[in-house]
Amino acid sequence: MSIRVYAPATIANLSVGFDLLGAAVVPIDGNCLGDRLSVSKSDAEIQVAISGPWQHKLPTDPVQNIVYQCAQYFLEQLPQSARCGLKLDLEKNLPVGSGLGSSASSVVAAFFALNELFDQPFDKEQMLPMMGELEGRVSGSIHFDNVAPCYLGGLQLLLQAPGSFCEAIPAFQSWFWVVAYPGTSLSTAQMRALLPAEYSRSDVIKYGRFLSGFIHASYRNDPKLAAAMFNDVIAEPYRSPHIPGYINAKQSLADLGALASGISGSGPTMFTVTDSLETAQKAAQWLKINYVTDPCGFVHICQIDSTGARRI
Ligand code: HSE
Repeated sequence: MSIRVYAPATIANLSVGFDLLGAAVVPIDGNCLGDRLSVSKSDAEIQVAISGPWQHKLPTDPVQNIVYQCAQYFLEQLPQSARCGLKLDLEKNLPVGSGLGSSASSVVAAFFALNELFDQPFDKEQMLPMMGELEGRVSGSIHFDNVAPCYLGGLQLLLQAPGSFCEAIPAFQSWFWVVAYPGTSLSTAQMRALLPAEYSRSDVIKYGRFLSGFIHASYRNDPKLAAAMFNDVIAEPYRSPHIPGYINAKQSLADLGALASGISGSGPTMFTVTDSLETAQKAAQWLKINYVTDPCGFVHICQIDSTGARRI
């Protein structure tokens, strides 16, 4: 038996929820923006084959590949009697170091597929810490704001409380999320190293106000209030000078009528939000001409992917 799965791209932080909030996204034109992975049992050890448009960016030694490490880790959690060889085929469709949750997509695809293959020995509360642990090996620190929405879909708020690792937040169905990847890579570890170790009291209070205000507005179905909350006091001030063209793009997108824009994860992808398809198309066009700097860059108009990882 072979299990084939898809795990979507994600926007972590969403400006207001550094390390605590993330969203899964899907292009409205049906384009694929997420890794696909197949897994089956085998007699041999763990074997990994890689294909897809971004395979050349991954380590050539399979043992170094994150899906190999996921498989190894997953097997270690099973009773000895259940362990076996595995064959994994990863279709790498997301650019590494893009800010679109590329490593999370591979990790979630691997764990989700393995859990299906072994008849779901682990539940959501057990799966998320495993996913975070493995994703942390790539990004340099453990945070769940990519793996949680990638796995579960929608907007996910990290609580890490007993019995409630994360919770889905209502998403505005009328919003379009334009994501623009310029074609260059940034290391999450390096982008995290830019952040201060401590924040002022006033920034802590602002962070609490913007995040709680956004969550409140989402539950009250008040998109205007939610859009007004999109302010990032934790990461954007320190990261934006290191993302070429970001500051100018944010201003230009506001001039085009976007509700808000921000850094997707640790960048360099940026996202812009609008409730009008026409504005989304104008923003996408502007970003293609002005923000994408490399031929491998791209822009997609997306909506929230409410499903997350799934069998295909
Ligand atoms: N919250 C993380 C960060 C996401 O911004 O560093 C990285 O993908």
